[in-house]
Amino acid sequence: MMTEPLFDSAQFRQVCGHFPTGVTAVTAVTGPSSGSAVAALTVNSFTSVSLEPAKVLFCVANSSSSFRVLMESARIAIHILSQDQEDVARRFATSGLTGAEKLSGVSWVPGPDGVPLLPGTPAVLAGRRNEVITSGDHVIVLLDVDHVHLKPTKVPALSFYRGRFAAPTPVPE
Ligand SMILES: Cc1cc2nc3c(=O)[nH]c(=O)nc-3n(C[C@H](O)[C@H](O)[C@H](O)COP(=O)(O)O)c2cc1C
Repeated sequence: MMTEPLFDSAQFRQVCGHFPTGVTAVTAVTGPSSGSAVAALTVNSFTSVSLEPAKVLFCVANSSSSFRVLMESARIAIHILSQDQEDVARRFATSGLTGAEKLSGVSWVPGPDGVPLLPGTPAVLAGRRNEVITSGDHVIVLLDVDHVHLKPTKVPALSFYRGRFAAPTPVPE
Protein backbone atom coordinates (compact mmCIF):
# COMPACT_ATOMS: atom_id res chain seq x y z
CA MET A 1 0.00 0.00 0.00
CA MET A 2 1.32 3.49 -0.89
CA THR A 3 1.43 6.02 1.96
CA GLU A 4 0.76 9.69 1.23
CA PRO A 5 4.08 11.60 0.94
CA LEU A 6 4.74 14.27 3.58
CA PHE A 7 6.16 16.65 0.95
CA ASP A 8 4.98 18.34 -2.21
CA SER A 9 6.43 18.05 -5.70
CA ALA A 10 8.30 21.38 -5.38
CA GLN A 11 10.13 20.05 -2.30
CA PHE A 12 10.82 16.77 -4.08
CA ARG A 13 12.26 18.63 -7.07
CA GLN A 14 14.36 20.83 -4.76
CA VAL A 15 15.83 17.85 -2.91
CA CYS A 16 16.60 15.95 -6.15
CA GLY A 17 18.20 19.13 -7.51
CA HIS A 18 20.90 18.87 -4.84
CA PHE A 19 22.37 16.04 -6.87
CA PRO A 20 24.70 17.72 -9.40
CA THR A 21 24.44 16.31 -12.91
CA GLY A 22 25.88 16.77 -16.35
CA VAL A 23 23.65 18.10 -19.12
CA THR A 24 22.87 16.38 -22.41
CA ALA A 25 21.07 17.43 -25.57
CA VAL A 26 19.00 14.54 -26.92
CA THR A 27 17.99 14.50 -30.58
CA ALA A 28 15.85 11.90 -32.32
CA VAL A 29 14.35 11.20 -35.71
CA THR A 30 11.43 8.97 -36.67
CA GLY A 31 11.59 6.59 -39.61
CA PRO A 32 10.36 7.68 -43.09
CA SER A 33 7.00 5.94 -42.49
CA SER A 34 6.40 8.39 -39.60
CA GLY A 35 7.35 11.40 -41.75
CA SER A 36 10.95 11.75 -40.48
CA ALA A 37 9.94 14.08 -37.64
CA VAL A 38 12.69 15.31 -35.30
CA ALA A 39 12.84 15.90 -31.54
CA ALA A 40 15.34 17.93 -29.51
CA LEU A 41 15.32 18.28 -25.74
CA THR A 42 17.65 18.96 -22.83
CA VAL A 43 18.07 15.98 -20.51
CA ASN A 44 19.97 15.52 -17.25
CA SER A 45 18.49 12.11 -16.37
CA PHE A 46 21.11 10.38 -18.53
CA THR A 47 23.21 7.51 -17.16
CA SER A 48 25.13 4.56 -18.50
CA VAL A 49 23.57 1.16 -17.77
CA SER A 50 25.56 -1.69 -19.34
CA LEU A 51 29.09 -1.92 -20.74
CA GLU A 52 28.61 -5.11 -22.78
CA PRO A 53 26.36 -4.64 -24.60
CA ALA A 54 26.61 -0.86 -24.43
CA LYS A 55 23.35 0.56 -23.08
CA VAL A 56 22.40 3.93 -21.63
CA LEU A 57 19.15 5.39 -20.38
CA PHE A 58 17.38 8.67 -19.91
CA CYS A 59 13.95 9.59 -18.59
CA VAL A 60 11.40 11.69 -20.44
CA ALA A 61 8.18 13.25 -19.18
CA ASN A 62 5.13 11.80 -20.87
CA SER A 63 3.86 15.40 -21.15
CA SER A 64 6.90 16.40 -23.27
CA SER A 65 6.18 17.52 -26.81
CA SER A 66 9.17 15.34 -27.77
CA PHE A 67 7.47 12.23 -26.39
CA ARG A 68 5.84 10.93 -29.60
CA VAL A 69 8.96 11.33 -31.72
CA LEU A 70 11.06 9.57 -29.06
CA MET A 71 8.57 6.69 -28.86
CA GLU A 72 8.56 6.32 -32.68
CA SER A 73 12.26 7.10 -33.13
CA ALA A 74 14.43 5.24 -35.61
CA ARG A 75 17.56 6.70 -34.02
CA ILE A 76 18.46 8.77 -30.96
CA ALA A 77 21.67 10.76 -30.30
CA ILE A 78 22.80 11.92 -26.85
CA HIS A 79 25.22 14.87 -26.79
CA ILE A 80 27.12 15.42 -23.52
CA LEU A 81 27.37 19.19 -23.54
CA SER A 82 30.33 21.39 -22.69
CA GLN A 83 30.18 24.69 -20.84
CA ASP A 84 30.26 26.66 -24.09
CA GLN A 85 27.03 24.92 -25.21
CA GLU A 86 24.76 26.38 -22.51
CA ASP A 87 22.82 28.21 -25.26
CA VAL A 88 21.93 24.81 -26.79
CA ALA A 89 20.79 23.48 -23.39
CA ARG A 90 18.59 26.55 -22.87
CA ARG A 91 17.12 26.40 -26.37
CA PHE A 92 16.36 22.66 -26.23
CA ALA A 93 14.62 23.19 -22.87
CA THR A 94 12.27 25.84 -24.29
CA SER A 95 8.62 24.80 -24.12
CA GLY A 96 6.40 25.69 -27.04
CA LEU A 97 9.00 25.11 -29.75
CA THR A 98 8.85 22.09 -32.04
CA GLY A 99 11.95 19.93 -32.44
CA ALA A 100 12.56 21.51 -35.85
CA GLU A 101 12.23 25.02 -34.37
CA LYS A 102 14.68 24.20 -31.55
CA LEU A 103 17.16 22.89 -34.14
CA SER A 104 16.76 25.91 -36.43
CA GLY A 105 18.59 28.00 -33.81
CA VAL A 106 21.70 25.83 -33.59
CA SER A 107 24.32 24.36 -35.90
CA TRP A 108 23.66 20.67 -36.73
CA VAL A 109 24.34 18.09 -39.41
CA PRO A 110 22.31 15.00 -40.33
CA GLY A 111 23.84 11.75 -39.05
CA PRO A 112 22.87 8.11 -39.72
CA ASP A 113 19.11 7.78 -40.47
CA GLY A 114 19.00 11.60 -40.48
CA VAL A 115 19.36 12.04 -36.72
CA PRO A 116 20.52 15.62 -35.98
CA LEU A 117 24.12 15.75 -34.69
CA LEU A 118 25.59 18.82 -32.99
CA PRO A 119 29.18 19.40 -34.13
CA GLY A 120 31.57 20.60 -31.46
CA THR A 121 30.08 18.40 -28.73
CA PRO A 122 32.83 16.72 -26.64
CA ALA A 123 31.10 13.33 -26.36
CA VAL A 124 28.25 11.82 -28.38
CA LEU A 125 26.49 8.45 -28.13
CA ALA A 126 23.93 7.27 -30.68
CA GLY A 127 21.80 4.23 -31.18
CA ARG A 128 18.35 2.74 -31.25
CA ARG A 129 15.62 2.70 -28.65
CA ASN A 130 15.55 -0.75 -27.09
CA GLU A 131 13.11 -0.77 -24.21
CA VAL A 132 10.73 1.79 -22.76
CA ILE A 133 9.61 1.40 -19.14
CA THR A 134 6.68 3.48 -17.94
CA SER A 135 7.11 4.81 -14.41
CA GLY A 136 4.85 7.49 -12.94
CA ASP A 137 4.68 10.57 -15.17
CA HIS A 138 7.92 9.68 -17.01
CA VAL A 139 9.18 6.85 -19.16
CA ILE A 140 12.67 5.35 -18.93
CA VAL A 141 14.14 5.05 -22.43
CA LEU A 142 16.87 2.41 -22.78
CA LEU A 143 19.14 2.87 -25.78
CA ASP A 144 21.36 0.29 -27.48
CA VAL A 145 24.47 2.33 -28.32
CA ASP A 146 26.07 1.57 -31.70
CA HIS A 147 28.07 4.77 -32.28
CA VAL A 148 30.26 6.86 -29.96
CA HIS A 149 32.31 9.94 -30.75
CA LEU A 150 34.83 11.90 -28.68
CA LYS A 151 36.19 15.35 -29.49
CA PRO A 152 39.17 16.38 -27.34
CA THR A 153 38.45 19.67 -25.56
CA LYS A 154 39.75 21.78 -22.69
CA VAL A 155 36.27 23.17 -22.05
CA PRO A 156 34.68 21.64 -18.93
CA ALA A 157 31.37 19.78 -19.07
CA LEU A 158 28.20 21.77 -18.54
CA SER A 159 26.60 20.87 -15.23
CA PHE A 160 23.30 21.54 -13.49
CA TYR A 161 22.94 21.97 -9.75
CA ARG A 162 20.09 23.25 -7.58
CA GLY A 163 18.10 24.45 -10.58
CA ARG A 164 20.95 26.35 -12.27
CA PHE A 165 23.63 25.74 -14.82
CA ALA A 166 26.60 25.40 -12.47
CA ALA A 167 30.10 26.83 -12.24
CA PRO A 168 32.61 24.74 -14.18
CA THR A 169 35.03 22.27 -12.69
CA PRO A 170 38.47 22.34 -14.35
CA VAL A 171 39.30 19.67 -16.91
CA PRO A 172 41.97 17.31 -15.45
CA GLU A 173 45.36 17.56 -17.20
C1 LIG B 1 19.02 21.04 -17.12
C2 LIG B 1 17.73 20.46 -17.62
C3 LIG B 1 17.54 19.09 -17.58
C4 LIG B 1 16.36 18.51 -18.04
N1 LIG B 1 16.21 17.15 -17.99
C5 LIG B 1 15.06 16.58 -18.44
C6 LIG B 1 14.91 15.16 -18.42
O1 LIG B 1 15.80 14.42 -17.99
N2 LIG B 1 13.75 14.65 -18.91
C7 LIG B 1 12.74 15.44 -19.39
O2 LIG B 1 11.71 14.91 -19.82
N3 LIG B 1 12.86 16.79 -19.43
C8 LIG B 1 14.01 17.37 -18.97
N4 LIG B 1 14.16 18.72 -19.00
C9 LIG B 1 13.08 19.52 -19.55
C10 LIG B 1 13.06 19.50 -21.06
O3 LIG B 1 14.30 19.80 -21.66
C11 LIG B 1 12.02 20.57 -21.50
O4 LIG B 1 10.89 20.48 -20.72
C12 LIG B 1 11.50 20.31 -22.82
O5 LIG B 1 12.45 20.12 -23.79
C13 LIG B 1 10.65 21.53 -23.20
O6 LIG B 1 10.02 21.22 -24.32
P1 LIG B 1 8.77 20.21 -24.41
O7 LIG B 1 8.08 20.18 -23.09
O8 LIG B 1 8.00 20.83 -25.49
O9 LIG B 1 9.40 18.89 -24.76
C14 LIG B 1 15.33 19.33 -18.55
C15 LIG B 1 15.52 20.72 -18.59
C16 LIG B 1 16.71 21.28 -18.14
C17 LIG B 1 16.90 22.77 -18.22
